[in-house]
Amino acid sequence: MSFPADESARRAGAILTIDLGAIAANWRGLRDAGRAAGRPVDCAAVLKADAYGTGATVVGPRLAAEGCRQFFVAHIDEGIALRRVLPEHPIYVLNGLLAGTEPDFVQHGLTPVLNHLGQLNAWRAAAQRYERPLDAVVHLDTGMHRLGFGAEDAQVLINERGRLRGLRLALIISHLVASEEPANPVNGEQLSRFRNFVRAMPGAPTSLANSSGIFLGPDYHFDLLRPGAALYGINPLPGRGNPMLSVLTLQARILQTRRIDAFQTVGYGGAWRSARQSRIATIALGYADGYFRNLVNRTHVHIAGYNVPVVGRISMDLVTIDVTDVPEAACQAGATVEVLGPHLTPDDLADHARTNAYEVMTALGRRYHRAYVDGYADEPGDEQDEPDPPGAAA
Ligand SMILES: Cc1ncc(COP(=O)(O)O)c(C=O)c1O
Repeated sequence: MSFPADESARRAGAILTIDLGAIAANWRGLRDAGRAAGRPVDCAAVLKADAYGTGATVVGPRLAAEGCRQFFVAHIDEGIALRRVLPEHPIYVLNGLLAGTEPDFVQHGLTPVLNHLGQLNAWRAAAQRYERPLDAVVHLDTGMHRLGFGAEDAQVLINERGRLRGLRLALIISHLVASEEPANPVNGEQLSRFRNFVRAMPGAPTSLANSSGIFLGPDYHFDLLRPGAALYGINPLPGRGNPMLSVLTLQARILQTRRIDAFQTVGYGGAWRSARQSRIATIALGYADGYFRNLVNRTHVHIAGYNVPVVGRISMDLVTIDVTDVPEAACQAGATVEVLGPHLTPDDLADHARTNAYEVMTALGRRYHRAYVDGYADEPGDEQDEPDPPGAAA
């Protein structure tokens, strides 16, 4: 594997390649899953945390060109950055309305996801001050107990619809606790709480399903799907074949290769010791780039058809790998290794690090040279093992 010829990539220690076409194809696949039952279900995109590490201001316009019309972020500043590249589309801020930020929302045309009556009152007061209706999203807590209107606040809203006067209720949402576990009874409990609430608040569009929630079936689809992870290739069906296209490749450069005798240690603390004469290559990434320290002795990288173990402690900027069994020509200084890609996905690396792929992706380092490609024309699921039709899990 070699680096792209791009001049700015020439100096890079590692290159993260993001396939925008694959993200777009994943979005189309999820949108079509929502439409499969014949209802006009729309599909948004969750772009928080810099689009799960892939670059929100690049991914957002690409998805808008694909037909995506609504976007979610977590922070106001994420919304402001996205607004610069998406002047027209609704952008919803999930973390809600921080006291005093009403002018920021209005100035940048952002829509707060209101999480309790206090935020609703503040946003309504803003609508009065600005003498115009303002869009609002209401988030109902159906069991996550994290953000959203609790049962008491929700009942007040049902009883006193006038509290929404001056606002346009753009959407009612809730968020699933365990959508990746189809058999978990909490899914059905949340569904029924959400249904009861939206029946009592007719007229506004509704949204419940995140990525895995989409695969719980049409009952969970309502008017708007809200995927994040699956857009970026994370498996929405843990333990089953991944129906999404892979989006990322991370290649790191070998800086130096050395021979060491048997019984020599490598790296800080002498935490790994060679059992035989070995060749050790040092590659240009480390924990400062989101390559977790706990990956030591638990994962590998890929070189020229070989899975090569990571040995010795992960340093801030460096990782050492045991290339003893790899032909020398493939691991000279300057050659590259695959850290993430077809041979080791973010889901695989997450398994090795005892975390999830969301953390792997959102930790992806800022020092990587980023290259965007847009070559994917195929539909997701084309080359996967036994893809599950969306909705089959319900
Ligand atoms: C409220 C809300 N909706 C949707 C999503 C997207 O979820 P996922 O990435 O699992 O698709 C998230 C992500 O955490 C979220 O917090």
